[in-house]
Amino acid sequence: MMIDKGNHRHFMEKEIFDQPEVVSHTFGHYCDFAHGRIAVNGDEIDFSRVSRLAIAACGTAYLSGLIGKYWIERFARLPVEIDVASEFRYREMPLSPDELALFISQSGETADTLASLRYCKQNGLKTGALVNVTGSTIAREADAVFPILAGPEISVASTKAFTCQLALMASLALRAGRERGTLPVEEEKTLVHQLSEVPRLMNHVLHTVQPQIEKLARDLSRFNHVLYLGRGTSYPLALEGALKLKEITYIHAEGYAAGELKHGPIALIDENMPVIVIAPYDRFFEKTVSNMQEVAARDGRIIFITDERGAAASKLETMQTIVLPDMPEFIAPMIFALPIQLLAYHTAVFMGTDADQPRNLAKAVTVE
Ligand code: G6P
Repeated sequence: MMIDKGNHRHFMEKEIFDQPEVVSHTFGHYCDFAHGRIAVNGDEIDFSRVSRLAIAACGTAYLSGLIGKYWIERFARLPVEIDVASEFRYREMPLSPDELALFISQSGETADTLASLRYCKQNGLKTGALVNVTGSTIAREADAVFPILAGPEISVASTKAFTCQLALMASLALRAGRERGTLPVEEEKTLVHQLSEVPRLMNHVLHTVQPQIEKLARDLSRFNHVLYLGRGTSYPLALEGALKLKEITYIHAEGYAAGELKHGPIALIDENMPVIVIAPYDRFFEKTVSNMQEVAARDGRIIFITDERGAAASKLETMQTIVLPDMPEFIAPMIFALPIQLLAYHTAVFMGTDADQPRNLAKAVTVE
């Protein structure tokens, strides 16, 4: 199959703009919107019989797993152990056959993720694979396969596979909640309805924030260091923002849990290191704003990514505020991922780096 960039300059841009459609496809497969129910099949896995869930993955796939952990623990009250696969496989963590292990991989070929899967199988665990390439080795070897259905992803930096992994993780978390009796039918209905809104919100964001982000990218390209902060599910998103930026622009970027600011990174804050704060108006908003105040008090420049309620509630001066529509906390990571991807992409375009083929990186890492 010939895949082209269409009207886009890079595959990365195309894949960012593909997201409303592909995510809607993923939800179409795993959600029954008409009845307000999750429809994730797979009898090989029964969350009600599982004592703990282990997740291993690499790179961006690991970060989608980290967001999944928040959802699964919250909605299914199931403890989740997650690690990057290169640590997971060697940690000699105690595992027991009543645990379930999930492996997330766009390519389905990442060496460390595959080795972690084999390690779990040897220890008698049931295994599930969340993969984009369904004919891959990881898909073949796992007991259950959950395709993420993002379509072929060409750009080395992952974008649409990330949000499709999130769509699937969110669906799995709700199925686990139902199976474990921790998610009442009415709540499942409400949350499934929230998921149904994701493609529309994605579309809206992609078509409204672009000019502002292009301008911001120009400003950001002057800096050598950038810090990303977030709390709750915005914390893994801060890690993903930093990963995306460093991967394709070579600007040094770090992601931190906002609450950890005072345990180290605050020492670096000055006017030369912009701080990108990801803060939807959720349970954590006030806490994150107090971290922003600490940054402002040290002459730090703040780039604030929030929603309408968040923008109205914060009185702080920022270098720039990107305002998304208001949305429920559950679905926010899927929508907030977009400005983060666009910011990395436009900074790379402005700086003239190769967004699709960044130096030293490979799409699939099949060696250790
Ligand atoms: C490489 C790619 C990343 C990807 C990671 C994991 O580092 O450049 O985009 O997130 O591998 O790949 P996987 O195929 O297992 O998701």
